[in-house]
Amino acid sequence: MIGVFSFLLYYKVESKGKDGEFMKTNHLNVVIAGGGSTYTPGIVQAMISSRERFPFSSLTLYDIDEARNDDMFEIIRYMLKKEALSNEVDLYQTTDAQEAFTGADFIFSQLRVGGMKMRELDEKIPMKYGLVGQETCGLGGFSYGLRSIKGLLEIVSYVDHYASDAWLLNYTNPETLVSEAVRRAFPDVKMLNACDMTISIEETIATNYGYDRKNWIPMYYGLNHFGWYTSIYDKSVDRDVLPEILERLENERLHVADFNAGDDTWQEAWDMMRLMTKNFPGYLPNNYLEYYLYPNRTVEHTDPNYTRANIVMDGREKQTKEMARKVREQEKGEILDFNFGEHGNYIMDMAASILNDNHDRFMLIVPNKGAIPNLRDDAMVEVPAYVGRTGAEPISLRFAINDFHKGLMEAQNAAEKLLVDAYFEHSYQKALQAFTLNQTVYSADPAKQILDDFIKANGDYWPELN
Ligand code: G6P
Ligand code: MN
Repeated sequence: MIGVFSFLLYYKVESKGKDGEFMKTNHLNVVIAGGGSTYTPGIVQAMISSRERFPFSSLTLYDIDEARNDDMFEIIRYMLKKEALSNEVDLYQTTDAQEAFTGADFIFSQLRVGGMKMRELDEKIPMKYGLVGQETCGLGGFSYGLRSIKGLLEIVSYVDHYASDAWLLNYTNPETLVSEAVRRAFPDVKMLNACDMTISIEETIATNYGYDRKNWIPMYYGLNHFGWYTSIYDKSVDRDVLPEILERLENERLHVADFNAGDDTWQEAWDMMRLMTKNFPGYLPNNYLEYYLYPNRTVEHTDPNYTRANIVMDGREKQTKEMARKVREQEKGEILDFNFGEHGNYIMDMAASILNDNHDRFMLIVPNKGAIPNLRDDAMVEVPAYVGRTGAEPISLRFAINDFHKGLMEAQNAAEKLLVDAYFEHSYQKALQAFTLNQTVYSADPAKQILDDFIKANGDYWPELN
């Protein structure tokens, strides 16, 4: 093992020195932070099919959970072998940050600080008080947020220290909170913050209603997991197809796309999306708005003893462990069993767009700076952005957003800002303000009770709050 790692260090340092400060375009060293995640095979699959436009020669799985990382290492090694790439891609796994990040060119980050066990508490504790229990929205999202900020800032500091020229592409949730914290602590880091939700919404609609998403130029604004489409221009017919999509949503159920096949939670989400477009017509909302607009309904259709975390642990997590077991025991037949839709391709497309200066268009979470003209400049917003060698170039909407959306966003944004303040200032008072202002909360009473419960449940995962 030591031999492998000293080789890794030597190789990486040398390749960086050779290219000096110019961006490497070949023999790229890629690191997946949160390597043990069940999403890793999807990302690696996308990397494999992108080798021409994104020539990588080493892949390092970095995770603090050694056992999970080792499972994934076995699965990825098997994938590379199957694709006859074992000799072309050096695969490493490590729990050591210096080993992982030294000489890295691209880092894909997908941490889940505290794992599924903490996700379960994020979801279940608010539900005890009758409030929304969700991983990224509501108070569960705030609990996760304070853990995640700590974990992601650590990763960013490693990148800053060991690979300051590298690009960091981040999927770590809750995205608005972590990107706000990074904006404050490391304003100059080369980082893109992205979420696959818009792309999954588009993919689901396109497959249900017979469109090709590749022809679409969508217009969208919001905070992460908190936004609206205002138009979807379709190049193949040269018009905005959003009005007809909204009309179809009125009458036709949206079924889960094959990458979420059989998943009742997603079916409920799409049904709630139809309710939102019915009651608030004219815009296509991000499905996550259901938690803010209809907290009562989402509480009603969630089993407080068996939440999404349980579904994922009993599904995707077990399935991945099973894949690792089959690989280890060299079972015959079809071993790989995953389908996450565009999730892996989306992050890969971004990396390729940076590398090749493509200026492809993505939804990214960026400092507003006028993109939404009538919203504060320092809000982290999700808007379309073109991505090239110098990073993200967000578009400006050039229209003012309406008061309904603006009011919702401003309240949510203020709550998120307060939570990030609480993190940096170690302020209990700011955390309580954030919890109270969260749009899923009707009273400061449960806000305080839940905050106190979360302080206990999170222990050292959270900053100390005084
Ligand atoms: C979407 C969101 C992610 C979220 C995921 C949850 O992809 O964009 O931010 O983490 O759904 O999926 P899960 O299956 O873990 O509930
Ligand atoms: Mn997301």
